[in-house]
Amino acid sequence: IDPKKITIKEVGPRDGLQNESVFVPTPDKIAWINQMSHTGLTYMEVTSFVHPKWIPALADAVEVVSGIERVPGVTYAALVPNAKGLERALSAQVDEVSVFMSASETHNLKNINKTREETYPILAETTQAALAAGKTVRGYVSTVFGCPYEGAVSVDDVIRVTEALLAMGVSEVSLGDTIGVAQPRQVQEVLEVLLQRFPTDKLAMHFHDTRGMAMANVLVSLEMGMTTFDSSLGGLGGCPYAPGASGNIATDDLLYMLNGLGMQTGIDAEKLQAAALFIQEKMGRPLMSHNMQACQA
Ligand code: HMG
Ligand code: MG
Repeated sequence: IDPKKITIKEVGPRDGLQNESVFVPTPDKIAWINQMSHTGLTYMEVTSFVHPKWIPALADAVEVVSGIERVPGVTYAALVPNAKGLERALSAQVDEVSVFMSASETHNLKNINKTREETYPILAETTQAALAAGKTVRGYVSTVFGCPYEGAVSVDDVIRVTEALLAMGVSEVSLGDTIGVAQPRQVQEVLEVLLQRFPTDKLAMHFHDTRGMAMANVLVSLEMGMTTFDSSLGGLGGCPYAPGASGNIATDDLLYMLNGLGMQTGIDAEKLQAAALFIQEKMGRPLMSHNMQACQA
C-alpha cells in the first residue's frame, strides 16, 4: 500500500455515546468534543437528532451542537433520520448531516420504524432540504455485511441503497458493518463488486469490532484503495437496535496502525489519547481499545 492521506471520521460522540447506559452530562460532551477538535481530527459526528425516546443518551443534541467551539478546518456533523431531525439540526447549525437506512428490511424496520420503500422518499426529502440549506449530506448504509435479524445480506441490496443515496445527492456513502460480522475476505468480495460501480472517493468504511475483525477489515479496505474510515475514540459504541453490536473500531488503535504504515492523518496521537482518558473518566469504566488498555497497564 502506498503511503497516502487517510481521512478518519470520528463518530464516538454519536455512535459511541448512543449505546452507552451512562448519560454523559452535556458540558462534559462539549468539553470532550472541544478537546478532540484540537487533535488534528478534521471530521466529527457529534450527536444525532433522532427521537429522544429512541436514543435518550443524545437527547441534548441541540445543546451540544450549539455549545461546542467551531474550530476552522473541522466539520461538525450529526445524524438525522427525517425532516423533523433536520429541522432540529439546522436550528443548531451543524455543518453536515448524515442520513441513514439499512440494506436489510428487518433492521430498517427495527431501527427507524419504516420499510425500506417508505424510507427512500423520507431520506430524499431530508437530503434535498439539507442541500437547499447549504449543508453537505452523508449517507450510511447499515447491515452491509450482515443483519442481526436476517443473517446474510445480498450485495444487490447494498448497491440499490447506495445508488439511491448517491442519486439523492449525498457526497459520500459510508458502508456500515453494523454488528461487526464482516471478515477480510467478505470485505474484499463486497468491495470488488461495489468498486466496479462507485469510485473509492464516494465510499467510506464503518466497521464495528464485535468479533475483533475491524482492523483486518480496514487493512483489506486500504489495499482495495479506500481512504475514509469511521471510528470511535477508545472503541466506544454500538447500535442499540442491532442486538449484539458493540463498539466501532477504536480511533486510537486505527491511528496506531495507519502511523505504522506511514499514512498521513494529521492526527496527534498524544492529544488523542488525552481525549480518550478524559471521556473514560466520564464513562466511569475502562475503555476497550487496545491502546487504552496498553497505556494504562
Ligand atoms: P416514529 O415513531 O416512526 O416517528 O419514529 P414518526 O415519524 O411516526 O413520529 C412520531 C413522533 O416522533 C412525532 O411526534 C414526531 O414529531 C416525533 P408527535 O407528533 O407524536 O408528538 N419525531 C421526532 N422527534 C424528534 N426528532 C426527530 C423526530 N422524528 C419524529 N428526528 C424515528 C421514527 C426515525 C424518529 C425513530 O425510529 C428514531 O428516532 N429512530 C432512531 C434510531 C437510532 O437512532 N438508531 C441508531 C442510529 S443508526 C446506527 O447506529 C447505524 C450507523 O452507525 C451505521 C452502522 O453502524 O451500520 C449509522
Ligand atoms: Mg455504527
